[in-house]
Amino acid sequence: MESKKLAAEKAVEYVKDGMIVGLGTGSTAYWAIQKIGQRVKEGLSIKAIATSKQSEDLAKELGITLLPFAEIDEIDVTIDGADEVDTHWNLIKGGGGALLREKIVAAASKQLIIIVDESKLALELGQFPLPVEIIPFGFEMTMRKLQKLGAEPVLRKAGDQAFVTDNGNYIADCHFGSIAQPEELHLTLNQIPGIVDNGLFIEMASVVIVGYANGTVRQLEK
Ligand code: 5RP
Repeated sequence: MESKKLAAEKAVEYVKDGMIVGLGTGSTAYWAIQKIGQRVKEGLSIKAIATSKQSEDLAKELGITLLPFAEIDEIDVTIDGADEVDTHWNLIKGGGGALLREKIVAAASKQLIIIVDESKLALELGQFPLPVEIIPFGFEMTMRKLQKLGAEPVLRKAGDQAFVTDNGNYIADCHFGSIAQPEELHLTLNQIPGIVDNGLFIEMASVVIVGYANGTVRQLEK
């Protein structure tokens, strides 16, 4: 937890007065939102957009001003976690089920800062099952299509019910094994009707900050 916090707090140094800031989702992004909240209390003037209801609620609690997309052309900086980061800074995201809003916010951001602990660094993506957001209608068929791609999809559950995203959709966690061609897979998946988006974030990260168990924090160089 400390290493996640270290990475998060380092990332918040990128946040400056007057910026519009994208707030990520998850246990690492939590620390970034906390730090932003603290700086807002100290006088920092920013506006934010959240990638999930969970982060929106936290931001409201901390007194961070939130904006709807209708009022935003561009986001200056977004700080978000990831489930895996490869050596090209391609990512798997969506462990918390917020991948769709996270990708919409990331795509609207001038800078996407990814904050992780060292356990998330990978030579190749795919150890972490790839979350794929699917429409409830016909989801059994969509899961079969995923299976035909070699995915071993598992419908994510919340108790004994299907987990439902903030967008009213389901998540299929797909065990592909090592993903040698993430860009290709990303395109293939998003062509399947019923798939809204998948958790591969290709060449979207601008900065990767890693917290280590020994208490150090490092911004990666490409
Ligand atoms: C949520 C995400 C998270 O950023 C990702 O799952 C990492 O989470 P954590 O920081 O809790 O390890 O993509 O959809």
